[in-house]
Amino acid sequence: MRDFSVVYDVDPPVRAVKNVDLEIGRGEIVGLAGESGCGKTTLAYGVQRLLRPPAVITSGSVTFHDADGTDVDLNALDAEAMRRFRWDKVSMVFQGAMNALNPVATIGSQLEDVFEVHRPDLSRAERRRAVVELLEIVKVGGARRRSYPHELSGGMRQRVMIAMALALRPQLMVMDEPTTALDVLVQREILKQISQLRHEFGFSVVFITHDLPLLLEISDRIAIMREGEIVELATAERIWNDPQHPYTQRLLASFPRLTGEKGVVAR
Ligand SMILES: Nc1ncnc2c1ncn2[C@@H]1O[C@H](COP(=O)(O)OP(=O)(O)O)[C@@H](O)[C@H]1O
Ligand SMILES: [Mg+2]
Repeated sequence: MRDFSVVYDVDPPVRAVKNVDLEIGRGEIVGLAGESGCGKTTLAYGVQRLLRPPAVITSGSVTFHDADGTDVDLNALDAEAMRRFRWDKVSMVFQGAMNALNPVATIGSQLEDVFEVHRPDLSRAERRRAVVELLEIVKVGGARRRSYPHELSGGMRQRVMIAMALALRPQLMVMDEPTTALDVLVQREILKQISQLRHEFGFSVVFITHDLPLLLEISDRIAIMREGEIVELATAERIWNDPQHPYTQRLLASFPRLTGEKGVVAR
């Protein structure tokens, strides 16, 4: 994305995202970190044109370099093309998504719905096979397709959401605070798995969180966002060992070190 800006047209207007330039490489995990209210969700929604009034995109372009070699200018897509694009090419796990599952449908049928809508060429048996395979991939297990959301733990429900995001084998997955409500061990395990899956399937990930230490573990590069701007963008190693921007330094200092010794990562 180039020079991307979003304003909430309220009184007074809120400049939520300011002239952001960001490039995500194929197969890369990019972390987007910053305090609550700095514009992370607005940025993620804006790129996928999911914003509603009073949000207005005031500048910028977003180009998707498809693996098939074509460049897609997202601003040029109509609503229907954009909708398809969102599932097929770029998928999203929303903040709080695990609570958005339909409580009265089994997780298997909810996953099957994705295929029914987007892969109408598949037979019923093929759809079912695809669902079982997905549930295996995210380590929920195929047998769980008959479970209802309330029968699963928060971590399991979040894995189901990830399965849904993976269903059509997108090239980019945007995850907005996907594990924030989960306990630390469950978070870690899910993150480790996302990292493995992107090696296996070759997709890129934008992982959004206010939890910088978590990002240091899984990201290739990290973008630090503050008041709508990306103030620093560097490899995770560089952010940890040699943060350049005073805000990044302050953000790092606000988290307790994993070891007592300053500047040493616990591994
Ligand atoms: N619908 C809205 N109307 C007005 N301001 C909003 C709206 N949604 C978000 N904002 C403001 O935009 C800024 C960025 O919010 P958001 O993107 O949700 O940040 P983050 O995801 O980093 O917590 C905040 O100042 C927030 O108050
Ligand atoms: Mg947010």
